[in-house]
Amino acid sequence: MPVVDVHTHMYPPAYMDLLRSRDTVPYVKSFPDHPSAGDRLIILPAEDTASTSRGRPIGKEYYDVKEKLAFMDTHDIDVSVISLANPWLDWLPPDSAAETARRVNDDVERMCAEHEGRLYAFGTLPLSASVEHVVEEIERLTTLPHMRGIVMGTSGLGSGLDDPALDPIYAALEKEKQLIFLHPHYGLPNAVYGERASDYGHVLPLALGFPLETTIAVTRMLLSGVWDRFPELNVLVAHSGGTLPFLAGRIESCIAHDAHLKKEGKITNRRSVWDILRKNVYLDAVIYADVGLKAAIDASGADRLMFGTDHPFFPPLDENAVEWESVTLNSKAVKSALGGNKEAADAIMGGNAARILRLPS
Ligand code: URA
Ligand code: ZN
Repeated sequence: MPVVDVHTHMYPPAYMDLLRSRDTVPYVKSFPDHPSAGDRLIILPAEDTASTSRGRPIGKEYYDVKEKLAFMDTHDIDVSVISLANPWLDWLPPDSAAETARRVNDDVERMCAEHEGRLYAFGTLPLSASVEHVVEEIERLTTLPHMRGIVMGTSGLGSGLDDPALDPIYAALEKEKQLIFLHPHYGLPNAVYGERASDYGHVLPLALGFPLETTIAVTRMLLSGVWDRFPELNVLVAHSGGTLPFLAGRIESCIAHDAHLKKEGKITNRRSVWDILRKNVYLDAVIYADVGLKAAIDASGADRLMFGTDHPFFPPLDENAVEWESVTLNSKAVKSALGGNKEAADAIMGGNAARILRLPS
């Protein structure tokens, strides 16, 4: 059974060129007065200050395909389904977005073709362009042999994933059987982290802001009836669904007890959160412990979970470490959550991805 990593990012060369050409977020720059010198990646406004050391270090592991393959070899990963890392193309001016999306997607397709059998990808949509251009890119992506869906964040066309203006895009994705890999970026408003937030590094936004952002985005999709209008639309939700598996019962109960929804006739004839979790949602296994993974398996089924690493984020802090703990925590969680059920564990490590993403054996 192959090991497949469905949550693994790159900034392909075409995208790096863009980041290096800018000095407002998102951008890549070196700050000669910074203690560790080297290039820094600044992708959030909150990271763009001296107190947050201007983002994070960025090296070849973000853009050099050889580094991706070396990482895969070290961790016995046979196939990676790479996705552009956040913030994707959300920030591009509308008039250049469609052209840039084609360039970036072609660059990713080229990298996959040059490493046949080892790399597949999720494409990226020009969401700041017109809806027609976005639909055109969805259709074009189906002609690129290594593309297996699209990655996107939670902002949609600018007002979230419950925006009815997204319907033609959801319709095209459903028709072309393209999976959405839904991934967070924007987190929660900084005010929730309090006055001492910068004392805590990136922990609060990454550990909590990211998964809550995802959970809210999926719940808004569900409340706005996206899956009633597009019953075959499939979404791979990052980080084992944020907190969705844990909170599904509470979301379902809040819907069932909401007088406003009842008055609007939205409580009857609706699909339950549980039904959507089992029919439209896939979850990655990027949750780092068996407790969360068991909730994800209970909610969606072991046949809908897929192993991931989030490489190149979360490298070991010990520069001499060969194996990445952020990877082994996830693979150990799979073994531990499934007990002795080797067949189900192997499926999560790769068999499910091969089936769901139609990867040739
Ligand atoms: N931090 C990010 O900005 N993106 C990821 O995917 C993981 C960590
Ligand atoms: Zn990620």
